[in-house]
Amino acid sequence: MRAVLLGTAAGGGFPQWNCACARCVSGAPPRAQDCLAVSADGQAWYLVNAAPDLRAQILATPELAAGPGPRDTPIRGALLTDAELDHTLGLLLLRGAAGLRVWAPKAVLHAVRDEFPLREIVDAYGAWDWLPVESEVDIGDLRVSVLPVSDKHPKYAATSTVDGPWVVAYRIEDPATGGVLVYAPCLADWPPGFDEFASGASYALIDGTFYAAAEMSGATRSGVADGVQHAMGHLPIAGDHGSLARIRRALPGHRGVRWAYTHLNNTNPLVDPATPEHAEVLTFNIDLPPDGTRLDL
Ligand code: MLT
Ligand code: MN
Ligand code: ZN
Repeated sequence: MRAVLLGTAAGGGFPQWNCACARCVSGAPPRAQDCLAVSADGQAWYLVNAAPDLRAQILATPELAAGPGPRDTPIRGALLTDAELDHTLGLLLLRGAAGLRVWAPKAVLHAVRDEFPLREIVDAYGAWDWLPVESEVDIGDLRVSVLPVSDKHPKYAATSTVDGPWVVAYRIEDPATGGVLVYAPCLADWPPGFDEFASGASYALIDGTFYAAAEMSGATRSGVADGVQHAMGHLPIAGDHGSLARIRRALPGHRGVRWAYTHLNNTNPLVDPATPEHAEVLTFNIDLPPDGTRLDL
């Protein structure tokens, strides 16, 4: 299996267009909103989430270039972890493509139809298949298993009463090579069963939105109210209950798993390779892959 990390930032990307904080003006390498592409054979590619940056991400990725016929594309479809705008708006940009397939949990398919008319808009240009995923699904030659993560609703669907899960994680396996990619960019907590779900993975790419628990509070980022970050439902990296401690506790059962962070927020010191936090995370053998990283699994 080949994977290309098309984007590794949280909603808004890095730097964020409406933010002039020290981090955003630091000149650290930009990151697009998180999204990746996977393929078993290097010919048929599937997106995992579809960021609003998708057009630029596709044009920057030779594997996704149009062809060989004048209107062909190697992109066959997309798999969604949740219905957040940073993970779904890119589908609107693909509306010119005929016959794409979109796999997502039922609640996510509901959100992009009944809470925000994305499906109606896209289907007006060419009917796609919208396919619910529950526990397992084959996507091309890849085998995908699903772990329910949370019932966090996107803000635009805050009042929906549809049953979850609203957020899931995926374990994508290439049966031909045994390579396994785990993708979980939205973790409000360490979900039950996640240690087992990630065990034996070649690469586990998880929610790295916030480094510290109070990162969005007034103390570190003026103008953003306390409590916003908690409400956003992202587990911090640092601290006793953070994901770094959870990863380290999951060892030694996880020998061989390469952990990595994605969905980095513009407030997160890990976006800047010059910070001590960035250096420290690397010392734990945890990856902080930049946009454009290729994985061969
Ligand atoms: C999130 O990751 O919490 C969401 O993408 C927030 C948002 O941008 O609406
Ligand atoms: Mn997000
Ligand atoms: Zn900023």
